[in-house]
Amino acid sequence: MREQLRTIQENAEQELAIVSSMQELENVRIKYLGKKGQLTQVLRGMGSLSPEERPAIGQLANEIRSYIERKLEDTKKMLIQKEKMQRLQQESIDVTMPGKRRSMGKKHPLSIVLDEIKDIFIGMGFQIAEGPEVELDYYNFEALNIPKNHPARDEQDTFYINENIVLRTQTSPVQIRTMEKHKPPIRIISPGRVYRSDAVDATHSPIFHQIEGLVVDKGVTMGNLKGTLEVFAKRLYGEQTKVRFRPHHFPFTEPSAEMDVSCFVCGGDGCRVCKGEGWIEILGAGMVHPKVLRICGIDPEEYSGFAFGMGLERIVMKRFGIDDLRLFFENDVRFLKQF
Ligand code: DAH
Repeated sequence: MREQLRTIQENAEQELAIVSSMQELENVRIKYLGKKGQLTQVLRGMGSLSPEERPAIGQLANEIRSYIERKLEDTKKMLIQKEKMQRLQQESIDVTMPGKRRSMGKKHPLSIVLDEIKDIFIGMGFQIAEGPEVELDYYNFEALNIPKNHPARDEQDTFYINENIVLRTQTSPVQIRTMEKHKPPIRIISPGRVYRSDAVDATHSPIFHQIEGLVVDKGVTMGNLKGTLEVFAKRLYGEQTKVRFRPHHFPFTEPSAEMDVSCFVCGGDGCRVCKGEGWIEILGAGMVHPKVLRICGIDPEEYSGFAFGMGLERIVMKRFGIDDLRLFFENDVRFLKQF
């Protein structure tokens, strides 16, 4: 029996030495120490021993049992340590690996220039006003002194939602909405999208942007209009910029004018950008028509005002030498990255 016990010890030791998983470890435990395990079997057979032999064999069996238990415990610790090392190795991060590049967006050229324009006017005490893009015919036309049969309606190919509702063709309706709600003094600019039923080509788009301006107060004159817009032009294009006003007609202003700036590329000598003119037209303006003031409940005997409106796309195209309007709306990053 002594022999048998020694063999069990040796076998168990050998098997434990090559165990490589918790499951295998458990199998070894069951094989030797389980209810039907080899050591348990031997201990059960002790009854057949003589009383003299029994204590010695019993002691040996117990020693071997503790020995195997210790070995099991040691092997278990070793396995846990091994598993931990493996996990650490698998989950380790190679910090020298190249990262995933996140491509950054760029501010749209229309936004770049619009933000500059806003800053200039805010610096002169203007506030930003907004109005709806789906607009009542009344605000887009009627109240701006463009009645139903007025020829100016033909120039603005309008998207009609129904007889009374249109996609605004200009930002000028914001003038009316502002004057209806606020008492003078009024100093606002109103940038936003406008819509016209135009076919798309290099210079036309059914959707584009305008920036409207309105000043109403006591004693506002054409001199204020010219001074304000000249300062604006110099801030936008540089101190050397000259402006000129040409008489024009708009139904909602009287008198009306268009403003040109001296070409910021050639300085007025004539080049490709100004088409040899030396001047670039950038906006329409005028003194708010007394009829328009009256419609908004402002007494034209007491107050006067000036207004102006400009197309953002044209200004940005000239500024950056962009020759096709469609590029603004395609949002190709190769285009946008250039500004
Ligand atoms: N709304 C005009 C247009 O779309 C631009 C304009 C001209 C606005 C003169 C004004 C203005 O406020 O006074 O052509």
